[in-house]
Amino acid sequence: MRRPILAANWKMNKTNAEAIEFVRSIRRGLTEIAGVDRVLCPPFTALAMVRELLLPTGILLGAQNMHWEEKGAYTGEVSPGMVKELCQAVILGHSERRTYFGETDEKINRKVVAALAHGLLPIVCVGETEAQYDAGQTAQVVGSQVRGCLAGLSAEQVAGLVVAYEPVWAIGTGKAATPGGAGAVIGLTIRGAIAELYGEGTALAVRVQYGGSATPANIAEFMAHPDVDGALVGGASLKPDFVELVRNAAEAKGVLE
Ligand code: PGA
Repeated sequence: MRRPILAANWKMNKTNAEAIEFVRSIRRGLTEIAGVDRVLCPPFTALAMVRELLLPTGILLGAQNMHWEEKGAYTGEVSPGMVKELCQAVILGHSERRTYFGETDEKINRKVVAALAHGLLPIVCVGETEAQYDAGQTAQVVGSQVRGCLAGLSAEQVAGLVVAYEPVWAIGTGKAATPGGAGAVIGLTIRGAIAELYGEGTALAVRVQYGGSATPANIAEFMAHPDVDGALVGGASLKPDFVELVRNAAEAKGVLE
């Protein structure tokens, strides 16, 4: 059985003072939900502080991005080794990185390779835009993102990473996908592409999250879909009821202790 994984993508939110206060308010509740992986992804500036607060809890820490190079003249970038010093996971290829910062499948692929080489858990984001959805191109777009981002990896590496399916039109809009719609893209398109490339066993082993306007109220429906292993949560991860979201997710998968 795939272990559910709920990840909080804070994006560019929370100063250190705000991060400390917030993590203190949720860590006890999150610690108790041990049947699922819980990952907090604060901005780079808060990673060291949040790490200290999470040390005894079993809650994982993730970065929201990183560069693929080890070091050098890349002003403003953060290397895999630097992320690894603080984190266990890293979000790669989020649609906002693709849209605003020119990330392509090829660049994301380099980042995935580098993250795996450093023993980081990559959360690799894919998803179609609204125009692509309207044009009926979802399967083609998402399939090609999966193939591009995961190119050249071993089946074992793919089995160990996390893919986040985030339809761009559902991110931050309050307009979540339907669980059936998201589950179909995850089951048929994402696991389908992985099965073709790396075999059926790998497609069944890889964990795939849904992302896009997930809330404490709708998470259980997504988790009820057998192909959905968790969620990458933006807006709803900034508030204390993120604990409720994670609890509802664990309960829906039958792993609430
Ligand atoms: P949202 O963001 O939950 O605010 O829609 C999800 C994401 O961008 O990862």
